[in-house]
Amino acid sequence: MGASTYLKVDDFSLLGSAFSLITKLASADMYSPRGIFIAALVSFFALGSALNIRSIAYYDPTVGGGSMLDNAGDRYGEPLNVIISGLSFPDVLTDDGILNYARAIGFSTECLGIHIGNPQSANLGDGNGYVNQTVELREDYGSVDAGTCLESAIGGNHFRMYRQNGPLANSGALFLAVSKEEPATDNHNIVPDGYDIGRDELASWAVGQTSYGDVSYSTTAQNITGLLAPGSAGVNHGTPFTGPLVIFPPLSD
Ligand SMILES: *[C@@H]1O[C@H](CO)[C@@H](O)[C@H](O)[C@H]1NC(C)=O
Ligand SMILES: *[C@@H]1O[C@H](CO)[C@@H](O)[C@H](O)[C@H]1NC(C)=O
Repeated sequence: MGASTYLKVDDFSLLGSAFSLITKLASADMYSPRGIFIAALVSFFALGSALNIRSIAYYDPTVGGGSMLDNAGDRYGEPLNVIISGLSFPDVLTDDGILNYARAIGFSTECLGIHIGNPQSANLGDGNGYVNQTVELREDYGSVDAGTCLESAIGGNHFRMYRQNGPLANSGALFLAVSKEEPATDNHNIVPDGYDIGRDELASWAVGQTSYGDVSYSTTAQNITGLLAPGSAGVNHGTPFTGPLVIFPPLSD
């Protein structure tokens, strides 16, 4: 990790209301603090409503006794290979917000609400211990309503989501286990290098300007290092996980 960079703005006043916006970026490795910061302010002005932007992108789960691998129930786990930053526009980090965001970038709820497979759990080192996934979303193949049925049938990208919100590390960040799967006929096994492929595919769909419903998003991504060593140790299906992680700060415009 490189030198730490901190930005701090207190008692920011807008439209007669006082806001406190503290943007504390733990590391210059994560992304360009200035870029993020400016984008955050632009959104702030555009909305003109009371916002409560959080103060940190995420906490390292291992510091609080957690893991960057979830628990698939067989002593192995999937890497939490995408983090949606706690510095995101706050709505994005809610259950409804992440669903809308996911739809904007090409995912939707599971086919007919039917879930295939057991939930997995993760310990994000926030004091909540192991918690089941909040939601699992699948590639929608261009159709929010029917596309995930197609994904269930022919395979594709999907992710499980966990929220870091316990008392010891309440960043609000969303940790995703993203992977590209084989068709259902193959029991939803991951494709070779499916973690890295899923991560990079999600990044390519998300980065830039996207929208769903009446919300539009501006997303940037950056690989981060040091949270989880590359390799296949402890990784589900023995699928090697090579790349560093990606972090997104999606902002509503
Ligand atoms: C996760 O959900 C399963 C099935 O509903 C349940 O048996 C299990 O106890 C849950 N695990 C945790 C950590 O909450
Ligand atoms: C992250 O690194 C991988 C290679 O390890 C690369 O393919 C990908 O484009 C990078 N993603 C970003 C957002 O820089």
